[in-house]
Amino acid sequence: MKVAILKEVAPETRVAAIPETVKKFAGLGMNVGVERGAGERASVADSDFEAAGAIVQDRAALVGDADVILCVGPPEPSSIAGAKPGALLVGALDPARRDDWIAAYRKAGLQPLAMERMPRITRAQSMDILSSQANLAGYKAVVDAASAYGRAFPMMMTAAGTISPAKLFVMGVGVAGLQAIATARRLGAQVSATDVRSATREQILSLGAKPIFVEGVAGIEGEGQGGYAGETSEEYRKAQAELVSSHIAKQDIVITTALIPGKPAPRLISAEQLRSMRSGSVVVDLAAEAGGNVEGVVAGEETVIDGVTVIGAVQLARSLAADSSALFSRNLANFLTAFWDKETKAVVLPDDDEIVAGIRLTESA
Ligand code: NAI
Repeated sequence: MKVAILKEVAPETRVAAIPETVKKFAGLGMNVGVERGAGERASVADSDFEAAGAIVQDRAALVGDADVILCVGPPEPSSIAGAKPGALLVGALDPARRDDWIAAYRKAGLQPLAMERMPRITRAQSMDILSSQANLAGYKAVVDAASAYGRAFPMMMTAAGTISPAKLFVMGVGVAGLQAIATARRLGAQVSATDVRSATREQILSLGAKPIFVEGVAGIEGEGQGGYAGETSEEYRKAQAELVSSHIAKQDIVITTALIPGKPAPRLISAEQLRSMRSGSVVVDLAAEAGGNVEGVVAGEETVIDGVTVIGAVQLARSLAADSSALFSRNLANFLTAFWDKETKAVVLPDDDEIVAGIRLTESA
């Protein structure tokens, strides 16, 4: 049984294994192959992989006899043309946008497994790439905002006078939002936050931030399936917009993270609301790739709209390649380990397992 780790194509910086997970695979009895240069952009040298027990190979030799191929993003199908039929291809395969590639993998006899479809159940927490990467993105969003903001975050009392603390508002308190709150608090900002899921109120308070919630309106509970948000009522959306308008005008930094699975990101900040913020304010939209929470945001770009810097954040975890690779790699290793059969020394994926059913890309998925 051989597991192969691909070298990703730029702009991807991450790698799907680190020496620690290579050792884990080797310990289970797997042969591990790593593509030459795979860890370069994540600060892992080929020699580090070799020291952990991997063989460093070129692509053709690597995939030719692999039973499991690990990747971060989906590989161009022709680049793995020599792979063995029946091999598992495991990574963030992006089936929503890459259905043609998924079809090509299947045609080649591979078994594509999309890790971003991991069900949100307790057993799968340690395999959840969306959580592990969103956590780092939430941190980086605040660091980027601090760097674009022409003022300091904490209150500073100096001989030359006092600097008041930055007011930072987090919209959408999932994994990224919680980490954004914690990071902004550590930097000394005055933090407030909102979400449609009322369960987040306690979480916001426990991090020392102020919850900003629509009160007494039907449709307030936006809890959808599987712990995710659902769509809110029209009445709720109106009340939320009014509440946000009055609050946002007093904020220096806004971080938006709101996503609804399978739907475009909800619009949370209008152009008019942006104009109400003072010049020099910064808005970071982590939902930019899903259409954006902020009107006028451009994914992957930093624009200035009426004096407010709007950052269309894309794949922020990539800019923390060493840490994001480590967490991503452990998610993959936890998945393979959970389905490792000691007797047959192979990965066994039962059809009726909730995790397998969630991530396996069958003809109809
Ligand atoms: P997400 O990335 O899908 O969305 C981010 C946040 O935006 C969510 O908190 C959502 O409620 C919020 N949101 C959506 N529409 C909004 C609107 N109109 N206004 C304001 N906020 C809005 O969510 P994420 O980060 O993936 O986490 C969602 C939930 O899943 C959390 O409760 C998290 O703890 C849970 N979770 C469970 C896991 C497990 O059990 N394996 C793993 C990861 C997360």
